[in-house]
Amino acid sequence: MKVTVVGAGAVGASCAEYIAIKDFASEVVLIDIKEGFAEGKAMDLMQTASLNGFDTKITGTTNDYSKTAGSDVAVITSGIPRKPGMTREELISTNAGIVKGVAESLIKASPNVIIIVVSNPMDTMAYLTHKATGLPKNRIIGMGGALDSARFKYRLAEALDAPISDVDGMVIGGHSDTGMIPLTRLATRNSVPVSQFINAERMEEVKQETKVGGATLTKLLGTSAWYAPGAAVSAMVQAIATDAKKMFPCSCMLDGEYGLSDICIGVPAILGANGIESIVEIALTEEENAEMISSADAVRKTNDLL
Ligand code: 2OP
Repeated sequence: MKVTVVGAGAVGASCAEYIAIKDFASEVVLIDIKEGFAEGKAMDLMQTASLNGFDTKITGTTNDYSKTAGSDVAVITSGIPRKPGMTREELISTNAGIVKGVAESLIKASPNVIIIVVSNPMDTMAYLTHKATGLPKNRIIGMGGALDSARFKYRLAEALDAPISDVDGMVIGGHSDTGMIPLTRLATRNSVPVSQFINAERMEEVKQETKVGGATLTKLLGTSAWYAPGAAVSAMVQAIATDAKKMFPCSCMLDGEYGLSDICIGVPAILGANGIESIVEIALTEEENAEMISSADAVRKTNDLL
């Protein structure tokens, strides 16, 4: 299993590090446009191999896509991250050109690659990648829901004063401060609905804290987060690499599912060797469905800017 990670910034490097630590890939190629940067990150990470106990070979290259040839999975993290006060949507003018060029170079070098898009505004960048490459819809996946759900579980565990391994929850919809839909109705603590432990008001707080999870960190860090995004994307790569058939909410090109078409937006999907193996349609309540429609409208507005 060869994995390419495009962009050796904080998210790309974290992603490469977690992939290596989990030791399921034979090779990770980090590629960046900044001279020597990916090479340096790769060398630094390789010097952790004997300490962290992995055999994955990590190499770096300055913009030479021939080094990425034969990749099974590629992760696109390229582009600028948001600064405090910015929305993900404001990044579109800079990141669209970068992501399009990267996607085209990736498939030239690896015609069979499965692409995971992380760059923001993520749902629109996944949509752009579909349009730019024409790849079948199972081979382009946007990373958002896996991260947003991890943030939801963090907030749920905090509200319940429970270990995170006790809670389960999922976020669907667009990967934006207003578009995320934390499915509070379906959240559980060991199969028991969380409504048994916290009241509706506290649940609403959890929902709102989850939706602005990225913005909260951007304000604290001065730039966008990287550990949880890196961990979320590495978990998706692992599911594909090991053909795990694991369910993740992620941005998928829809063709009628959830009543939506020609849009990439977060829905639960089964990830395995073919990328998106299938999309899982869950019955939404009227209220959740209305949230999904409004989230999709917002994603389409950003898509229109392309
Ligand atoms: C975040 O939410 C990077 O969009 C990503 O942190």
